[in-house]
Amino acid sequence: MLENVLKTQALAKSYGRIKAVKSLDLEVPDGAVFGILGPNGSGKSTTLSMLLGILTPDSGSFSWFGQAPEPAQRKRIGALLEQPNFYPYLSARKNLEIACLIKECSPTRVDIVLEQVGLLARAESAFKTFSTGMKQRLAIASALLADPKVLVLDEPTNGLDPQGIAEVRELIIQIAKRGKTILLASHILDEVEKVCTHVAVIKQGQLLAQGSVMEILRNQHQVELKADDMEALERALSAYEPAAERRRVGNLIVLSMTGEPDGSALNRYLYDQGLVLSHLRVHKKRLEESFLEITAKA
Ligand SMILES: Nc1ncnc2c1ncn2[C@@H]1O[C@H](COP(=O)(O)OP(=O)(O)OP(=O)(O)O)[C@@H](O)[C@H]1O
Ligand SMILES: [Mg+2]
Repeated sequence: MLENVLKTQALAKSYGRIKAVKSLDLEVPDGAVFGILGPNGSGKSTTLSMLLGILTPDSGSFSWFGQAPEPAQRKRIGALLEQPNFYPYLSARKNLEIACLIKECSPTRVDIVLEQVGLLARAESAFKTFSTGMKQRLAIASALLADPKVLVLDEPTNGLDPQGIAEVRELIIQIAKRGKTILLASHILDEVEKVCTHVAVIKQGQLLAQGSVMEILRNQHQVELKADDMEALERALSAYEPAAERRRVGNLIVLSMTGEPDGSALNRYLYDQGLVLSHLRVHKKRLEESFLEITAKA
């Protein structure tokens, strides 16, 4: 059982009459890559700012590592909220050495983080000569300087070209593999699906759904089937475990699956029982679709 690195309870924040975050309950498990997914203006940045002590919540509470917020905790949380300021004419290494002085961490960390983000070979190059993806990787390196337990990233691929986006996403996955918990805000469904293990979907400051990316997808995958002997097919499928639900829709049987559908395994299972299918179609719904459904209901 994973323990929660972060828990928020009824967290709320308004700007005057605009209710930016409404009674938000989040649970971020240790080791998760947790995506806060929501359209522009849904309160993602406001939430992250509260969690980092930049904004004070109007009401509600949160705890990092099971403890009420206190300044010492911040050392265990690396953050990248907006484009950081690097000196354009100074090298990557020099920029990180300066950041190191500000963050009071050991200068030996500089090469370690440069290596982690794949920039060690470019350590002596001036920041201004970097591609957008390299600039963002350097920013992530800076957030890693104090060797935090948690990394908080607000829209880490914003403004990057496709190559840069791919580089940064891969880097996030690699950092998570080394055991860090990552909290990432994004308005891009595809990004959350590719990078995150868990997701909280928010809209207008309100939580719509939260769980593992698989959980949010569960029961969303469907398989359509048809055979000459539909009754025999129904009987055979009644014992088919990966199906959470079975329905007759017109002349088809539609299964809602608990996980990723495996069409060939299902076909084999039925063939072994003497059933030959005349129709088999697998619909894999992506998070994008369930997100759109969820938000449409709100
Ligand atoms: N400083 C501020 N003053 C007034 N209103 C604000 C301020 N910052 C944010 N808001 C409002 O609060 C709401 C939530 O904004 P927030 O920046 O948290 O959303 P977001 O999900 O991060 O959006 P984006 O995807 O565009 O970054 C929006 O309606 C926004 O206009
Ligand atoms: Mg934002």
